Amino acid sequence: MLADNLKVLLASTQSFAIKSQNFHWNIEGSDFPQYHAFFDTLYGDVSGTIDQIAEYIRILGHYTPGSLTRYAELTIITDQTKIPRAELMFAESLQDCEKMSELVVAMFDEATNERQQGIANFMAELQDLYGKKAWFIRSILKKERE
Ligand SMILES: [Fe+2]
Repeated sequence: MLADNLKVLLASTQSFAIKSQNFHWNIEGSDFPQYHAFFDTLYGDVSGTIDQIAEYIRILGHYTPGSLTRYAELTIITDQTKIPRAELMFAESLQDCEKMSELVVAMFDEATNERQQGIANFMAELQDLYGKKAWFIRSILKKERE
C-alpha cells in the first residue's frame, strides 16, 4: 500500500540523514574540507525531504510514524555504528543512494497506478536527487579514467 511504503521511505530518509550527518562530523582525510562539506549538503538535502514525506502520509489518511523505534523497524538503510574510513563512507553512501532510488522508482509506479500524481511527481524529484548524489559519489570514488 502506498501509505505503508511512504512510512518505509520516511524511516529510510531519517536513517540516511542521520548517517550522512555522522559522516559529516567524523570523516577524515587529505580532502577533509570538501568531504566535510559534501556530507553537510547530503544531510541537508536528504533531511529537507522528510517533512513532505510525512505530510503525504497524513494526506492519505494515515498517522505518521515519529519515533526512533518505529524508524528502526521500518528503514531499509543499514545503520552504521562505527566510524569507517572515508572511502568506505562514500561506498556505503553510494549503496544507500541506490537503495533510495530503487524505492522511489517503485513508489512512482505505485503512486501513478493509484492516480496520486503529486506523490508520483515528488517520487520523480527524489529519483533525481538520489541519482545526482550517486553521480557525485561515483565521481569522488573514481581513481582514474578508463
Ligand atoms: Fe556541521
